[in-house]
Amino acid sequence: MTGIRALLFIVIVASAHVARGQDNDVVRLRFAADEAGTKIDRHIFGQFAEHLGRGVYEGIWVGPGSTVPNTRGIRNDVVAALKELQVPVVRWPGGCFADEYHWRKGIGPADKRPATLNPNWGGVIEPNTFGTHEFLDFAQQIGAEAYVSVNVGSGTPQEAAEWLEYMTADKPSALAQERAANGHPDPYQIAFLGIGNESWGCGGTMSPEYYLSQLKIYSRYARNYNGAEAMQRIAVGPDGGDVAYTEAIMKAWQSKVWSWDIEGLSLHSYTVGKWPPSYKSTGFGEAEYAALLKETLRMEELIRTHSAIMDVYDPQKKIGLMVDEWGAWLAPTPGTNPGFLEQQNSQRDAIIAALNIDIFARHADRVRMANIAQMINVLQAMILTDKDRMIRTPTYHVYRMYVPFQDARLVPVTFDAGSYVYGNISLPRVDAIAARAKNGKLWLALTNVDPNRTVKVEVEAAGVKQAVGEMLSSPKVDSVNTFESPATVAPRPFVESSSRGKVILKLLPHSITVVALES
Ligand code: AHR
Repeated sequence: MTGIRALLFIVIVASAHVARGQDNDVVRLRFAADEAGTKIDRHIFGQFAEHLGRGVYEGIWVGPGSTVPNTRGIRNDVVAALKELQVPVVRWPGGCFADEYHWRKGIGPADKRPATLNPNWGGVIEPNTFGTHEFLDFAQQIGAEAYVSVNVGSGTPQEAAEWLEYMTADKPSALAQERAANGHPDPYQIAFLGIGNESWGCGGTMSPEYYLSQLKIYSRYARNYNGAEAMQRIAVGPDGGDVAYTEAIMKAWQSKVWSWDIEGLSLHSYTVGKWPPSYKSTGFGEAEYAALLKETLRMEELIRTHSAIMDVYDPQKKIGLMVDEWGAWLAPTPGTNPGFLEQQNSQRDAIIAALNIDIFARHADRVRMANIAQMINVLQAMILTDKDRMIRTPTYHVYRMYVPFQDARLVPVTFDAGSYVYGNISLPRVDAIAARAKNGKLWLALTNVDPNRTVKVEVEAAGVKQAVGEMLSSPKVDSVNTFESPATVAPRPFVESSSRGKVILKLLPHSITVVALES
């Protein structure tokens, strides 16, 4: 063999070895099936519906006179799709909108409600036809609990207190009678109360100290009068990694007096890439895929940072960290109103959703709620609508596949994830969580982050006969569902039998798999 031919031979053998090695890459996953871990609060699968763009109007509300099939003005197709997700909670009416919302404008006969403005989001008219009763009807139709945010930025404690009395009073006060006259004699249940929104920003640019003084007032007077269900009060918390609000509120809470209290602290953090949001939601390549996944994994560090501060003041973990706004915030879909925050939703979004849910689940001892932004037609949505048509996004499918993890008990898993490398970005190649569902079944959720290589995950599971579930994969990382092609990204059934106490799960590139281990 001449020198050059020998070199060529070595290169070919070496690259064949690398290729074979990649194909045969095996991630060994072990779990302690008998360990009953922390409960994964179902509220981490929560949603957020703000009066923003076509999120509420068109997305949920079409009005009773619409040709779109509806129940009391609320779209039937959307309700049916959301019921499959077993949505535990919906946050409403905002967002920035909440701090300019005056609830009285959204009750009473629809034709008497005033048109107001929505200066935050496109400066459009807010017809107020979707108000308190319509939201609570919607929540009830999809079987979700209500998370209502009161207006601290431009409202008053009295306005908030009266809203709560209107919604929850079970005695015939004038406000309760007004609610009855408006069609709902029974008190509503409000499971969560947000006291302001982003008070460090659009909610009034308040210093932590100033907000704290407001929090004490609102947490005392915005009372829940419905004894049937406790209401958790959630304080505005950090903006991403800024710890000022976390420190101030948790420190004050530790030495609080009897007259105020909270049960949760909110954290907002979006996966943006760069500001203003300019990452395309479709038509992108591996560079943007890797960059955004790298950024989304920062959620882990954020939760660790804020949890560590909370642990100092609340070692018993009485206060939940509520990640009540998160998700991918990308460039607006060309041709749409940029103030409406409309974006397509690709397989990359599905991976982002799975990775974040896994992070929340692993921090279940502190993270008790998370609300992806936003439910329909806005940011990282579950559902997109176009007049009477509706499609489920890749993110929707992740939420549907993860339903068995709601209120399941975390089962510790160990595995060496390996790496997915793109340029100078290196990410764990695989992510996984396991949990024991309420009915005793053991579930595994696995994400193959690598966009190029299939990975085999070898699960050692004595007594397990097969793994049965679904896989969400797609032709490309930027594959999307459209009104013309609504099932390009859709879960497919997945079954693998075990052999000699092991199941080998073949995870396609950039895919998410959820399986039950059946014995
Ligand atoms: O979800 C869109 C906006 O993002 C919300 O209104 C606000 O709270 C956040 O800045």
